[in-house]
Amino acid sequence: MATGRGFYRSLVGKKIVMGVTGLIWVGFVVGHAAGNLLVFRGPEALNSYSHFLKSTGELLWIVRAVLVVALVLHVIAAVQVTRQSRAARPVGYAKQEHQAATFASRTMRWGGALLLVFIVLHILHFTTGTVRPAGSFSTTDVYANMVTSFRIWWVAFFYVTSMAALGFHLFHGAWSSVRSIGVSPVSADPLKKKVSLGLALFLWLAFTAIPVAIFAGLIG
Ligand code: HEM
Repeated sequence: MATGRGFYRSLVGKKIVMGVTGLIWVGFVVGHAAGNLLVFRGPEALNSYSHFLKSTGELLWIVRAVLVVALVLHVIAAVQVTRQSRAARPVGYAKQEHQAATFASRTMRWGGALLLVFIVLHILHFTTGTVRPAGSFSTTDVYANMVTSFRIWWVAFFYVTSMAALGFHLFHGAWSSVRSIGVSPVSADPLKKKVSLGLALFLWLAFTAIPVAIFAGLIG
C-alpha cells in the first residue's frame, strides 16, 4: 500500500494513471463513435442499437462506473501534475517561450477542461434529457433526440467545437499515454504518433459529421 502511494506521489506515477484512465475513455469513445454512425443508416438502426445497449442492464452500469472512476482519477491526476510542474518552477519564465511542448500541454489543459464541461452537458442532454426543452426528449427515439438537437445552430456549433478539442486532446493524449505507461520506447519517428493521429482524425471526423450532416439537412 505504502509502495502504491509512493508510486502515485511521483510525477511518472500520476502520468501513468492519466494514461491508463485516458485509454479507457479512448476505448469507449471508439465504440461510441462507431455506434453513433448508425444514424446515417436511419432511425431503425440507431434506435435498435440504443435499445440493445440499454438491455445489457448490469453490464451497462459496470461500464458507466468504470468510466466515472476513470474520469475522476484522470482529472485529479491532471490537476496534480499541473500543480507539481508549476511548483517545480515557482518563478515563471521572464519571457514565455511558445515551444511545441508547452503548446501541447496548454491545449491539453484547456481542451481537457472543455471536454469535461462537454461530457457533463452531453449526458444531461442525451442520456437524462435534463437540459432540453420540455417534451423534446425520448428514451426510446435517440434518432429524434439527435435530429431535433442538431437542427439548432448553437447546439451543433457546441458539438463541433468540442469535437475539435477532442481531436487535439486525443492526438496528444493517446500518443503520450503509451509513452508514460512504457509500452513503447522513445523514437524519432514513432508509429504510435501516426496511430494516434489516425485515431484522432477518425474520431474527429466521425463525431463532427453527425451534427454537420443533421444541421445541413442531409439526415432527418
Ligand atoms: C457528435 C458527437 C456525439 C453524439 C452525437 C453522441 C450521442 C450520444 C447519445 C445519443 C447518447 C445517449 C445514448 C442512448 O441513450 O442510447 C450518448 C451518451 C453518452 N455519450 Fe455521447 N455522443 C457524442 C460524443 C461523445 C463524446 C465525444 C463522448 C466522450 C468524450 C461521449 C460520451 C458519452 C457518454 C459517457 C454517454 C452516456 C452513456 C450512458 O451511460 O448511457 N459522447 N451520446
